[in-house]
Amino acid sequence: MTEKNAITISQIMMPYQANIAGNVHGGEILKIMDNVAGAAAGKYSRANVVTARVDEVQFLLPIYVGAFLSCTGKVVYVGNSSIEVMVSVDVEDLSTEGEPRKALSAFFTMVALDRSGRPKKVKPLIPETDEDKELFEIAEKKHQDIKKKKKYN
Ligand SMILES: CC(C)(COP(=O)(O)OP(=O)(O)OC[C@H]1O[C@@H](n2cnc3c(N)ncnc32)[C@H](O)[C@@H]1OP(=O)(O)O)[C@@H](O)C(=O)NCCC(=O)NCCS
Repeated sequence: MTEKNAITISQIMMPYQANIAGNVHGGEILKIMDNVAGAAAGKYSRANVVTARVDEVQFLLPIYVGAFLSCTGKVVYVGNSSIEVMVSVDVEDLSTEGEPRKALSAFFTMVALDRSGRPKKVKPLIPETDEDKELFEIAEKKHQDIKKKKKYN
């Protein structure tokens, strides 16, 4: 069963997504992650969402052509119109019985927009588990700091 406020998509990596040595381009994976973040935030908010920020992108493992990739996006924080989605990518080698391994992770901040393209208030997120509460608190502090710094950007 899918976790609450989370979605997952899976696909097999193709040669057109890779370099001549078979390594999948980082940008290909980031595009998948952005799509998943958008889908998770759009499903949560029932609104059009755009990407405002990407933090803490980590490339932990190489991904090769033929890998079975699963990308999961989970809403971990909601402000007024902003929605932070924790995105992780797992890869599996289907030629073995090995377990999926985490290959990438990142945090995407999406902003819900109304029909005029202005930021739109979305329903509050009530974190339930201890892990949800911790992720919410970390994100809340980060977004408060970002707002404080915004005037200098
Ligand atoms: C995202 C965007 C709509 C925000 O517009 P804005 O005028 O800054 O709106 P606001 O200042 O009212 O901010 C709206 C919310 O977004 C958050 N936000 C805006 N820019 C942010 C940033 N760079 N990082 C994190 N959060 C951000 C604000 O903190 C605020 O959150 P809250 O409503 O939960 O309190 C605007 O910057 C935009 O359209 N950016 C381009 C988005 C896009 O096209 N993405 C695809 C790129 S190819």
